[in-house]
Amino acid sequence: MTIDLAAFPQDFLWGTATSAYQIEGAVAEDGRSPSIWDTFSHTPGKVDGGDHGDVACDHYHRWREDIALMRELGTNAYRLSVAWPRVVPGGDGPANARGLDFYDALVDGLLEAGITPSVTLYHWDLPQVLQDRGGWSGRDTAHHLAAYAAVVAERLGDRVRHWTTLNEPLCSAWIGHLEGLMAPGLTDLTTAVRASYHLLLGHGLATQAIRAASPGAQVGIVNNLSSIEAATERPEDVAAARRMDGHTNRWWLDPVHGRGFPADMREVYGVELPEREGDLATMAQPLDWLGLNYYFPSAVADDPAGPAPYAADVPRQGVPRTAMGWEVDAAGIESLLLRLTHEYGARRLYVTENGSAYPDVVRPDGTVDDPERTRYLEQHLAACASAVRKGAPLAGYFAWSLLDNFEWAYGYDKRFGLVHVDYPTQRRTVKGSGRRYAEIIRQHGGRERRAA
Ligand code: FCB
Repeated sequence: MTIDLAAFPQDFLWGTATSAYQIEGAVAEDGRSPSIWDTFSHTPGKVDGGDHGDVACDHYHRWREDIALMRELGTNAYRLSVAWPRVVPGGDGPANARGLDFYDALVDGLLEAGITPSVTLYHWDLPQVLQDRGGWSGRDTAHHLAAYAAVVAERLGDRVRHWTTLNEPLCSAWIGHLEGLMAPGLTDLTTAVRASYHLLLGHGLATQAIRAASPGAQVGIVNNLSSIEAATERPEDVAAARRMDGHTNRWWLDPVHGRGFPADMREVYGVELPEREGDLATMAQPLDWLGLNYYFPSAVADDPAGPAPYAADVPRQGVPRTAMGWEVDAAGIESLLLRLTHEYGARRLYVTENGSAYPDVVRPDGTVDDPERTRYLEQHLAACASAVRKGAPLAGYFAWSLLDNFEWAYGYDKRFGLVHVDYPTQRRTVKGSGRRYAEIIRQHGGRERRAA
């Protein structure tokens, strides 16, 4: 399939993305403390197959090899996350020099390879010691995030320009505290709403801390937004779609854009926010860019008996799906990029994650051919190009993921990588989709033009 590559700017960032707990392993090395994901994954019944991140892709020891893979793909950017429990094992308090040294060397390695690092501070791995003190349900955690952000920015900020405070706070708050399907595995609406508030407060405080430590830092937040429609024209379903849009999209976007929390959703939740004067202004720090993680669209119907927001996904019939059961529909990425542009006035956008899981087969000759993932990649890049033509200021695309990795509650069974990982041997094999991505990047000519 052809992609309108000329739509993308010359200095477009072509990247891949990962996160610390999903790839690093080495959970007890060099002073790292347990995170809520260590606890959750070691709790029987929480993760498919009893999988956990103890070894994962062993990236902590194999990062040089992984940078070589990025070079092989021809990418010029890499989105990684820093593990808070490696860097500040006590949650707050002193920094751990050995933890910082790891990321320091990684950043240098990336820069030497001509790859721009994009650093996420919080990709869900809260130090367990902070959870023991209430975690995101308490206000202190927001301040601890900012203190940890300052530690990282002071160390890396002379070389790293591109920072993300939070990855998908929706998952931390709603899936972790309301649905119980991710760490810390709670199912309480009041706790979840309080957590959402403190996450966004933490985002604002961390943004200030990064800028104070590293003037010139480009700071953004990454949300997994969804294109949502009503499953039918019934007024109840139309109202349910509006609630789901509030729950998934507006609750996360409005406060950081100075619009406060959506009034309709405050009513739906019926939970008092732990508001203090000045908090909304803190949450609404001017952003340098917005990150969009996009995987699938959804159609929803009224579900009065379900959990907030009392709306349930209705699977559409006869549509292609990935191994996650997620519907494939690239139109959603285009509409969301345009919504961020027009409704929220975004001045710079990145697709910070986009990708698909399929059950890959390693052929006898050792190669992995993954036409469905390749097609998913092409379709979504084509939709991004179309959004750019319509005015979306898209400055980069990060494929999820560089490597097959620990897919949270789904364990290792769900493979999202452009590079296959054989876990027993840790052998990496670039898949057909990875080769196609390399070809697209070459055709766009970004890397050469950047160097020129
Ligand atoms: C996103 C997460 C990422 C990965 C993908 C598949 O929600 O940010 O870590 O698990 O989904």
